[in-house]
Order: sequence, then C-alpha cells, then structure tokens
Amino acid sequence: MPCLVIVGGFFGDEGKGKIIAYLANKENPVIAVRGGVGPNAGHTFCHEGKTYKVRMLPSAALNSTTQLLIGAGVLVDPNILLDEIKTFGVSNRTLIDSQSGIIEKVHIERDIGGIHLKNKIGTTGTGTGPANADRAIRVLKLAKEIPELTRYIGDVSGTVNDALDRNESVLVEGTQGTFLSLYHGGYPYVTSKDVTASAICSDVGIGPKKVDDVLIVFKAYITRVGEGPLKDEITSEDSKVRGWLEYGSVTGRQRRAAPFDPVIAKKAIRLNGATQIAITKLDIVFPGSAGVREFSKLPREAQTFVENVEAETGLRVTLIGTGAELTQLIDRRETSQIAL
Ligand code: IMP
Ligand code: MG
Repeated sequence: MPCLVIVGGFFGDEGKGKIIAYLANKENPVIAVRGGVGPNAGHTFCHEGKTYKVRMLPSAALNSTTQLLIGAGVLVDPNILLDEIKTFGVSNRTLIDSQSGIIEKVHIERDIGGIHLKNKIGTTGTGTGPANADRAIRVLKLAKEIPELTRYIGDVSGTVNDALDRNESVLVEGTQGTFLSLYHGGYPYVTSKDVTASAICSDVGIGPKKVDDVLIVFKAYITRVGEGPLKDEITSEDSKVRGWLEYGSVTGRQRRAAPFDPVIAKKAIRLNGATQIAITKLDIVFPGSAGVREFSKLPREAQTFVENVEAETGLRVTLIGTGAELTQLIDRRETSQIAL
C-alpha cells in the first residue's frame, strides 16, 4: 500500500509540513514528491529545536535517504529552489520534472504591480498566478530551458510510476488548501489552479488508481490569509486572546481566524476523496494537550473534539499534532489502515 497523498482541508496553513516531515522521518519513503502551485506555499516544521521552512522542496527534506521530487504541474522559482537545495544540502537527491514551469521576475512584477491581484485577491505576490496564465497561453518557460537547473532535471512522473511499480513507498505532498482551489474554492478569492487531491496527482503524473490513501490535514481552528469570505470569522482581538493569531509564512501577513467547521470539513473530505484525517495544533485550542503523545492522556474535552470530528465525518483521525516539534504528535495509525 505504498502511495499516500496529503492535502490541506481548509485554506492552506493547516500544518501539512509538520505532518509530512513526521511521516517522512518515521516511514522512510523512497520518494517524496511535491505537487501544488509553487513557491506561494510555505511549509514549516520544527525538529530538535530548529525550525525549517520549504517553499519548493518537499517537506521530507530532513530524511537523508528520501528522494525529493517536484512534479511537472508545479511552478519553480529557480532562486528559491537553488537556495533550499543549498540550505538542506540535498543536491544529490533532488529531481525536477523537465516540464515544470518557471517563474521569472516579470511574473512577480505582474503579481505585485496591479490592483486586481495584489489588492482585490490579496495574492502572495510570488508570481504564481501570472506564470500559470502564461502557461495557459503556452508562452511560459519550462525547467529544461534553464541552464542552472540542468543537473536536477529529469522525468518525475516516470520516476514515481517506476517506484510504484516496484511497490516502493511514495509520499505525495499537496500544497495550499481545498478552498483555495480555482475550481472548488470561493472564486475569485482562490489560487491559480485546482489544489484538491486529484489535481495534486495530476501535477505529479500519477493516475487515480495508484493512490492508496488520501490524508486530509485540518487545523483545530481555521485560518485564512488574503481576501475572500470566512464563515464565523472572529476579530483579531479575539484570535489574539485565544492564541489563534498567526502570520503567513511566505508573506508575513496576519491570518484571519474562525472556529473549526465540520460542515466545510465534510465538503473538503468529499472533494479530495479523503480516507483519513490529521488534526494539527490541538494544543492551541486545548492547552492541556501540549506535547501529549497518547490519546488517552488528552484532556477530556480535547478527546471529545476529536471524537466529534470522527463521528461527523465518518473518517478516523489518525494523526494529532500537539506541538511544533515533529515528535509532539499522537500517532493512531494501525498498520492495516494506512499506506507507507
Ligand atoms: P496566490 O496563490 O499567490 O495567487 O494567492 C491567491 C490566494 O491564495 C491568496 O488569498 C493567498 O493568500 C492564498 N494562498 C496561496 N497559497 C497559499 C498558502 O500556501 N497558504 C495560505 N494561503 C495561500
Ligand atoms: Mg503555509
């Protein structure tokens, strides 16, 4: 059962990075491959007191044996990627698909230079929307045309499918969140392409029947950056009091917040065909949960919260984050239930 796809269930920033980094360290996948839009996403994880952030590489980078791949559907900003390859020292195990699109300075200028994208939509300003627009009209440069990337270029879908044919484990990393999908989110306040599980598979070049499990990541509360509706949004004063106030990892913008909503969680589960759930930051909503590693040791109200999510969605919550460190997590997977 080797292929696990991980996606965000809300508006991005659900804590996918931590979940992926944890699974990568624990399960030693042969391949971790990133789908999604591009460097508009920042995935963060903390290990042994150090905080890491990736915007291009898969969040599995700390596992020194895992191959780190970037799918053809993902936009690459060469400066950011080359920087991360250097920081993590992963030049011997990074592979970019020859057909990944390239973000150039002009795309960033178009993203931040106009009222529509910058002010109305509130984009991350990383050039992804304009680059995808150029890809749609078929003028965008591809990774194979960039000399600085030559040594990292290869056939990502071929590599992933070969690994799956050998029954090797593959972790497929989605970015953004379900309701930022160009098709299924609240258009126009969305990102520049679909980001549900099907789209992530398409980015990487694997067919739907290759996937064994879809793990959807929800935070214990909802946050959103940029413009667009957010049901039951609380004031920033209130989110400060509750400890829910966050700042975007790419843009530094203050995130808006709302309580966990089972109705939109259920919708996200259907849009992604999710088979199991991870809940992150339980310790922020239930402080007595901080650092807990066994379900039975959670405060009763935190257990009830998780049990209610399971009752309302019909899915099992297999992973529960209780702190920033990778090890601050409750792992409730049973070997018969999960890929990897
Ligand atoms: P863009 O993807 O930069 O075009 O931005 C479009 C919308 O998606 C804006 O509201 C962004 O804040 C949001 N967005 C894009 N990527 C992420 C992400 O990784 N986390 C959270 N919000 C995101
Ligand atoms: Mg993020």
